[in-house]
Amino acid sequence: MKTMLISGGTSTIGEAAVRYFTQRGWHVYLGYNTGKEKAEALEEELAPSVTALHLDVQDKSSITDAVRSMGELDLLINNSGIFSSFLTGSLEDDEVSRILDVNVTGLFRLTKAVLPRLKEGGSIINITSINAIMPTFGSTTHYDASKGAVISYTRSLAAELAPRIRVNALAPGLVSAPYLDESNEIRKVFEKRSVLKRMVQSEEVAHALFFMAENTALSGAVITLDCGYTIG
Ligand SMILES: NC(=O)c1ccc[n+]([C@@H]2O[C@H](COP(=O)([O-])OP(=O)(O)OC[C@H]3O[C@@H](n4cnc5c(N)ncnc54)[C@H](OP(=O)(O)O)[C@@H]3O)[C@@H](O)[C@H]2O)c1
Repeated sequence: MKTMLISGGTSTIGEAAVRYFTQRGWHVYLGYNTGKEKAEALEEELAPSVTALHLDVQDKSSITDAVRSMGELDLLINNSGIFSSFLTGSLEDDEVSRILDVNVTGLFRLTKAVLPRLKEGGSIINITSINAIMPTFGSTTHYDASKGAVISYTRSLAAELAPRIRVNALAPGLVSAPYLDESNEIRKVFEKRSVLKRMVQSEEVAHALFFMAENTALSGAVITLDCGYTIG
């Protein structure tokens, strides 16, 4: 049985990935930070294929405790991430640091701790965003820069860990979620510009993650999954 760890397993993308991989026979270590209730509900619903673990990527001891309780892994998905929106004039250093600490340093911390557990032939997938590739919704320079760093990190790490471990990044466009109702301004901008005129479904993200995990020719790649937003 193949085994993986996903950080932020309680998120929209995380939950879809947990469901997708367990349906295909994988065992999933589901890392949560504040979402204990949701993580434990998924663990119960999908038993015995899910193990929920507290995993705060800002806290080394939380990472150490989580990794200590795992066996060998075939896959790490660095999915945890936070977002906020400020124009440069009102963007404080603390907020930039907070976003970079979770979205970038958190990946370094977790990857370093997990690496000894990753099997030869295993892989790492880092979740970036189309925001790393083009200005998207405005007021998100700090988030966009953090996701740009994820792309650079992915490419450098892929070169460093080859040929033992493959490392790739997935850059989703706006992913459909209940809070994005038809009146949502970000949704309107995304649907207008994307050539498919719709948002990405979380199951489509999970499908791409599965392909990236299984395809042994893929390393150092950044796959854009955005309903054609970046060519719109
Ligand atoms: N949604 C989109 O449209 C979209 C598009 C492109 C890229 N992305 C990226 O995809 C990833 C998932 O996005 P999402 O929208 O599905 O997420 P989300 O629903 O906003 O949830 C954020 C996730 O990050 C976790 N998290 C936050 N701080 C953490 C920390 N310190 N340690 C560990 N986990 C932490 C949260 O865990 P708890 O709930 O347990 O606190 C939660 O699972 C993110 O990296 C995001 O930037 C999202």
